[in-house]
Amino acid sequence: MRRKLVVGNWKMHGSKTAIADLLSKLPHTGLSNTEVAVCPPFVYLQWVERQLAGSAIALGAQNVASALQGAYTGEVSATMLRDLECRFVIVGHSERRALFGESNTDVADKTKIALEQDLIPIVCVGESLAEREADATLEVIGAQLDAVLAVLDRAQVSRIVVAYEPVWAIGTGRTATPEQAQAVHAFIRDRLASIDPAAAAKTRILYGGSVKADNAATLFAQNDIDGGLVGGASLNAEEFTAICNAAG
Ligand code: PGA
Repeated sequence: MRRKLVVGNWKMHGSKTAIADLLSKLPHTGLSNTEVAVCPPFVYLQWVERQLAGSAIALGAQNVASALQGAYTGEVSATMLRDLECRFVIVGHSERRALFGESNTDVADKTKIALEQDLIPIVCVGESLAEREADATLEVIGAQLDAVLAVLDRAQVSRIVVAYEPVWAIGTGRTATPEQAQAVHAFIRDRLASIDPAAAAKTRILYGGSVKADNAATLFAQNDIDGGLVGGASLNAEEFTAICNAAG
């Protein structure tokens, strides 16, 4: 039985005041079947880490450099994220791919380096609307996933989290139907199983893209949906708490 995971991706939102208010309203005592994490912007990581002392909520980052140290102005390394007690890091979010030119190879490098530094990478994959309409969804996701799997050994496959986020559903209020999402999740698990079936059975595959309190339960009830990567709704304590509760 895979433990569900709900991750709040705060993107470039927040201030100390807003974050303190949000954190004060989240469920810190823990849910038996669900792990919860929040991913603040880099500058707030250490501060949020202190606020989370004694909390069951884990810390994650939204991005990581593909090098460990050196002359990379503006970048943050996996070692630094571990140093700040991060457990998770999002890699290859569609906004990173679209706005900052991250390629499948960059995403693979980041995934590898995160694992080597003992972080759990949340590897994002997803098709655009044009790709879905051209019936290229599985081809696109297969290529995004294969690039990552090519650099991992079998033991590492069960340590990654995959997030399926259809680009057309992110921040749009338009969610994939549970059936559409489940079909892609099953495809992803099959692809992982081609490397190692036992590992694939353990890998958590999250859905992301306009997850809200009122659609979370149906999405999370699908066989291969192991939780959510939540953007907009994670900034609202009541919504996010309801989503965590829907996971169990
Ligand atoms: P959304 O974002 O929930 O606002 O659609 C999801 C994400 O980008 O991770």
